[in-house]
Amino acid sequence: MADKKVIAVVGATGAQGGGLARAILADPSGGFACRAITRDPSKDKAQALAREGAVVVQADLDDADSLKKAFAGAYGAYCVTNFWEHFSAEKETAQARNMAEAAKAAGLKQVIWSTLEDTRKLMSPGDTRMPMLQDKYRVPHFDGKADADAFFAGLPVTYLVTSFYWDNLYAFGVGPKKGPDGVYGWAFPMADRRLAGIAVEDIGKVAYGLFKSGAQYVGKTVGIAGEFLTVDQMSEKLSKGLGVSVKYTAVEADAYRAFGFPGADEMGNMFQVYRDFEKEVLGARNVDVARSLNPSLQTFDQWLAQNKDKIAL
Ligand SMILES: NC(=O)c1ccc[n+]([C@@H]2O[C@H](COP(=O)([O-])OP(=O)(O)OC[C@H]3O[C@@H](n4cnc5c(N)ncnc54)[C@H](OP(=O)(O)O)[C@@H]3O)[C@@H](O)[C@H]2O)c1
Repeated sequence: MADKKVIAVVGATGAQGGGLARAILADPSGGFACRAITRDPSKDKAQALAREGAVVVQADLDDADSLKKAFAGAYGAYCVTNFWEHFSAEKETAQARNMAEAAKAAGLKQVIWSTLEDTRKLMSPGDTRMPMLQDKYRVPHFDGKADADAFFAGLPVTYLVTSFYWDNLYAFGVGPKKGPDGVYGWAFPMADRRLAGIAVEDIGKVAYGLFKSGAQYVGKTVGIAGEFLTVDQMSEKLSKGLGVSVKYTAVEADAYRAFGFPGADEMGNMFQVYRDFEKEVLGARNVDVARSLNPSLQTFDQWLAQNKDKIAL
């Protein structure tokens, strides 16, 4: 353990960080050790990581000193924020700043910042096709992360641009819902454009590949996805894989924003960006690079076969 490079994994009890923690722990001869960071070391997921060999450390992204202690003595850190816990881009940016400052204080040798692109750059400020949200953002959970990129400048950082998790189908309530006719329906403002998607476990595995690659991707932005698929293609695969009928309805972005669930405006803007800027969004992500860093990168069909029971339509 003493001669291993310690990676402080923020979000180790969550989806992205959990994938990285499991990738480190599954490779005991890989030269890395996992320091799992959580606000609550007594929680089941933290305890499970401890049983697998992680050192669990308490810290809170809102508490800069706790992060400095949690990063001290580590070789590297995986930095991720959870917008969906508070829905505030400003808070997310402040949390990222705390992580970047802790990484600097600890003199880390390698840092990964889980970010997303600045969607404001895709439209002029006066563009009226979608509303501004939280005063100054188009897609707050993208733009806030992009704003935070600057805090990591000067660190040996890789900016990891992630993609829509296919796991949202069971974990985030976006999966198809059964209609009175027995057909499962889902609606997005995506027209016939392709969605860059990924199995969330693969994000952590790619991150592990980045740590193993040492200096190669330091200072670089790495955009990853598992596959680019239209929602019709995903529907076909779900229908076949689950033995049900899944039908996609393309709706207008304004209609989606008016659905009224928490974050509908945010998600409406996000899907509209995917639709209206398909070329730019897909161009910022590379499946081959993701596979080179994580040779077990899953396709949608592979992910579906693994997660059938969780989706359980
Ligand atoms: N869903 C998608 O399709 C998608 C795609 C791309 C990017 N993202 C981004 O992914 C991020 C969420 O990552 P995830 O899916 O891995 O999250 P998750 O599974 O919901 O887990 C959140 C993790 O963050 C930790 N955390 C949250 N607030 C914290 C705080 N104040 N201090 C310390 N730790 C804290 C939690 O740890 P404890 O609770 O144990 O403290 C937990 O491990 C979001 O910002 C989202 O925008 C999502």
